Amino acid sequence: MCDDGGIESIGLYTNLDRVARGLASLGIASSDPIAPEQLFPFDQWHYHGTAALAEAARSLALGAQSRVLEIGSGIGGPARYLAHTVGCHVCALELQPKVHDIARDLTHRCGLDERVTHLCGDALSYPLPPAEYDAVVSWLAVLHIPDRPRLLRQIAGSLRPGGAFFVEDFVAQRAFGEPEQRDLREIVYAVSVTRVEEYTADLHAAGFVRVAATDMTEEWTAFVTQRLTAWRANRETYTRDHTEAAYAAQETFYAAVARLFEGGSLGGVRLVAYAP
Ligand SMILES: C[S@@+](CC[C@H](N)C(=O)[O-])C[C@H]1O[C@@H](n2cnc3c(N)ncnc32)[C@H](O)[C@@H]1O
Repeated sequence: MCDDGGIESIGLYTNLDRVARGLASLGIASSDPIAPEQLFPFDQWHYHGTAALAEAARSLALGAQSRVLEIGSGIGGPARYLAHTVGCHVCALELQPKVHDIARDLTHRCGLDERVTHLCGDALSYPLPPAEYDAVVSWLAVLHIPDRPRLLRQIAGSLRPGGAFFVEDFVAQRAFGEPEQRDLREIVYAVSVTRVEEYTADLHAAGFVRVAATDMTEEWTAFVTQRLTAWRANRETYTRDHTEAAYAAQETFYAAVARLFEGGSLGGVRLVAYAP
């Protein structure tokens, strides 16, 4: 739970040794080189794994010359996937130092140092270079960031003219009740969830044009429901390789997210918008 511990204390961001433990269970030791594909079961902290990333790369027409910034890059799964499959350069910006350190180590062991640059800092204040990127991408990170209008101005300023912003994020389908607000705040650390109309208005206010929204609610509801079922079914195996506390922390997080989607108040959106 979040309590007063901030984002670092929610279930998704505790027990971070789970990646090393998961790799160890496959016989991969802590300094071994890794193929990016071997990490895909562990390093995708969003919905529909690498399929969602392939869709983004296609819709943004990314190529080997593209310069990409990812906001809230976690342990680097999306950045490594894009660099590895498309050949583009990705700057991966992550808030939490411990998460950033794991990301850097994994990228190094994948031999992708030249194509992925890991940056550690708060996307709200990080000194992003002006008009630098062809695309800014973000999966399930903006929901954690309190001042979305300011973040969107930062992103708009970092894009070259005509550059694209691609984001997958939570949205409110209707008003949240008190228990849902508690789940969002204390278990998910989702601090900026609004209706999609407010989101698109923020994008326009930041200067973006050609804003297009795709409703992801139905497929994400199915995804989070199935994820929780699979997590519970795998309890015995997981606790053997990890710990009961690590199992429980993630179960709390997955259960809260499933409750929120299944209750019908929380939804998902994919937004694509362009710098003028
Ligand atoms: C759900 S994870 C998604 C990680 C990655 N995008 C992926 O799909 O695998 C969201 C990440 O955003 C990061 N984050 C939250 N607030 C941030 C901020 N203000 N600046 C940069 N990163 C942030 C979190 O620490 C977390 O690692």
